[in-house]
Amino acid sequence: MNERGLLVRLSVIGCGYLGAVHAAAMASLGHEVVGIDVDEAKIADLAAGRAPFYEPGLDELLRDQVGRGALRFSTDPAAAADATVHFVAVGTPQSPDGRAADLRYVDAAVDSLLPILKSGDVVVGKSTVPVGTAAAIAARIAEHGSGARLAWNPEFLREGFAVQDTVGPDRIVYGVARAGDELDEAAAAVLDEVYAVPLAAGTPRIVTDFATAELVKVAANAFLATKISFINAMAEIAEVAGADVTQLADAIGHDARIGRRFLNAGVGFGGGCLPKDIRAFSARAEELGRGESVAFLRQVDEINLRQRQRVVDMAVASFGGSVVGRRIAILGLAFKPDSDDVRDSPALDVAVQLNGLGADVVATDPHAIANARGRHPQLRYEADTTAALAGAESVLLLTEWREYRELDPVATAALVADRHVIDGRNVLDRARWRAAGWRVVAHGRA
Ligand code: UDX
Repeated sequence: MNERGLLVRLSVIGCGYLGAVHAAAMASLGHEVVGIDVDEAKIADLAAGRAPFYEPGLDELLRDQVGRGALRFSTDPAAAADATVHFVAVGTPQSPDGRAADLRYVDAAVDSLLPILKSGDVVVGKSTVPVGTAAAIAARIAEHGSGARLAWNPEFLREGFAVQDTVGPDRIVYGVARAGDELDEAAAAVLDEVYAVPLAAGTPRIVTDFATAELVKVAANAFLATKISFINAMAEIAEVAGADVTQLADAIGHDARIGRRFLNAGVGFGGGCLPKDIRAFSARAEELGRGESVAFLRQVDEINLRQRQRVVDMAVASFGGSVVGRRIAILGLAFKPDSDDVRDSPALDVAVQLNGLGADVVATDPHAIANARGRHPQLRYEADTTAALAGAESVLLLTEWREYRELDPVATAALVADRHVIDGRNVLDRARWRAAGWRVVAHGRA
């Protein structure tokens, strides 16, 4: 414990969705934290206690922790010099020229740490990386001769629940160096101090080697993506067979071995993790000569992308073959509710495609319009839901924000020109909407 009563001195390199939340959450667990990022505007926001993106609860947490002096932010890598544990939380996006992960930000973060590392320090990777990356980084750190060690501690947070997932995760995984049968217990002991609060609350902890820790993360995301594409594949069959995929999901979901979560058929998964992680995983498996083992992930990806096309096709079909000049309201742009993230968002993709086909698209979202506009300035955006719905000949619900799930079919009917809705997330009560005169179309429901 230091002179201010704070436990461990931590640095967090990279203050995006992952790093900013991690930094604030670690401060709330009693540590002294400095968050470092190259983006000056982002650091200025964070230092003022403002989240640079929408994440429920984060603004308040930042304000509290910055206010009590447990959390500060800097663009200067030297600000990490006092810390003894250094989290690497930078992005690993899809490479511009392929499916593999782009590791340039991880490499730059490690470069920035090397000059300040001291004996006893632990560098902790949180970024999602191809298996084998940690071993290579450990070798670089060893070569540098500081005596610092490496651990890999994958992050499983979900956007929208990021704070709660970080403070109280389902499990904590440490990948540490292995020499023969011996794992680096000293590195694990340092992480035990960092995670003392969740561990005391009974959070399961798994200590393993680097490769297993790296694979745990991509395996978890691959499984979740597969589960979603599985139910979307069932939706495609249900449609032609005259069955109902939501009832099918309820029925198989009662089997505890299967579980109901992540079985919601619809426009599919997006975001900054699932799509790029399954692509990077299959690219890495191919490099390792085992591409066939995860060949199914290509199909998972294809099934997923097909759902976006299917929504576009449903819209085109509802207008008898052409959407040119037809007024379409798109509800939702974020890749999921409670997030302003539009990376690989199915909703934004559908909006762009319909706009490209000549439809008169008006898109709305409670928090993601600014990010969507940054990527697709050609689209028409309307912040107010009522205004977005006004005069629509078709309504597409593509991100299940609560306010869209709770729309009143009678009141909504009074706004639109034609009562036609595509429920791209299977969240509307069809009987109620039909009773109000709506034609309701959805994935996997005859
Ligand atoms: C995911 C993992 O859940 C998390 O553990 C990991 O750390 C990062 O990636 P996140 O990207 O925040 O988190 O979103 P998640 O809640 O997993 O949803 C991913 C996508 O799947 C969203 O686009 C969501 O709309 C979609 N989805 C989810 C479905 O289409 N159907 C479902 O049943 C569930």
